[in-house]
Amino acid sequence: MDYLLIIIASYLVGSIPNGLIVGKLMRGVDLRQFGSKNIGATNAYRVLGPWPAFWVFLTDALKGIVGVLLGQLLSGTALAQLAGGMAAIAGHNWSIYLKFKGGRGVATSLGVIAVITPQATLIVFIVWMLIVYFTRYVSLASIVAAALAPVCIWLLGGQQEFFYFAVVAALFVIIRHRPNVERLLKGEEPKIKAAGSTKD
Ligand code: G3P
Repeated sequence: MDYLLIIIASYLVGSIPNGLIVGKLMRGVDLRQFGSKNIGATNAYRVLGPWPAFWVFLTDALKGIVGVLLGQLLSGTALAQLAGGMAAIAGHNWSIYLKFKGGRGVATSLGVIAVITPQATLIVFIVWMLIVYFTRYVSLASIVAAALAPVCIWLLGGQQEFFYFAVVAALFVIIRHRPNVERLLKGEEPKIKAAGSTKD
């Protein structure tokens, strides 16, 4: 019963489309109509600018944190925390409020692993930043970082459940980046510009 409550509550929290809300509130823009048409922080940055992107990132990451905390509060086991975190990610990717469409799950996954394994998160985040800095492909950075997370958890001797969680979360991230992978392979993926830059 506890698990059902954790999963439903976390899924509903995860489903909240922050990108859509921030875009409408701060700029009167529906993110699904512009750029990559994704509702995540990257497209918010591309279409709306740094501040809206910051809020989208923060609130999307918060959904993952809330999922883990709900698991902690209502059950207290590591498995319940992961169930809450995974349900929040699923809600973000397949939102009940958006007819089961949604984002790529990167920030929400980051929120989850930041709570359960901060050390691995720090390494993954640094690698993500380096890839973005050197290639300017956020999607590539997200895919590599997601794949790296379970490896880091394993190398740091993290709990087995956390490792398996990170494997599934990475698969979700990769599946949700399918359009990006297709564009990367065709050389058509847009690079992210530094704030204020006019360079392509
Ligand atoms: O976290 C999402 C990012 O990896 C890609 O976003 O908008 O370029 O599809 P976008």
